[in-house]
Amino acid sequence: MSHFKPELIYLPKILDKRGNLSFYEYPGQIPFEIARTYWIYDVPGGEVRGSHAFKKQQEFIVALSGSFDIVLHNGKDEERFSLNRSYYGLYIPKMYWRRLENFSTNSLALIVSDRLYSEADYIRDFEEFKNLKNE
Ligand code: TYD
Repeated sequence: MSHFKPELIYLPKILDKRGNLSFYEYPGQIPFEIARTYWIYDVPGGEVRGSHAFKKQQEFIVALSGSFDIVLHNGKDEERFSLNRSYYGLYIPKMYWRRLENFSTNSLALIVSDRLYSEADYIRDFEEFKNLKNE
C-alpha cells in the first residue's frame, strides 16, 4: 500500500503522569510495512542531510527529540515541514526530492522505510530527478 501525497501523520498519544507514550504500526498509523529503521543524530549546526530522492522507497520520519525541517520538492514546487514533537511525523512517498535541515542541538530524526538500503534506489542529481518526475 502506498499513498501519493506527503502527509503529516498524528500518532496516538497515551498521556500518563509517569511520562507519555506514542507509537506507530502498519497498518494502523503508517501506510507501509517497515523493512528498515535508521536515525540521524549528532548533526553539527548548519548541516544538511538527505539531498536526494528515492525511485521506490517510501519513508516516515519523526523528530524523536529536538527539531528540524524537511523540505520536499515534487519537481515543480517546494514545501517545508517543521518537525518538533515526537507524536507526529511526515510520510514521504517515493519520488520526492527531500532535504533535512535546521537541526536543533541534540535533535534525533527517526526514519522508517519500506525497503532495505539500496544505493540503486537513490536519485542524487536534482536535474535527473526533475526530468524523471516531469516525464
Ligand atoms: P545517505 O542516505 O546518503 O545519507 P543522507 O541522509 O545524507 O542522505 O546515507 C549515507 C551513507 O550511509 C550512505 O553512503 C550509505 C550508508 N547507509 C547505509 O549503509 N544504510 C542505510 O540504511 C542508510 C540510510 C545509509
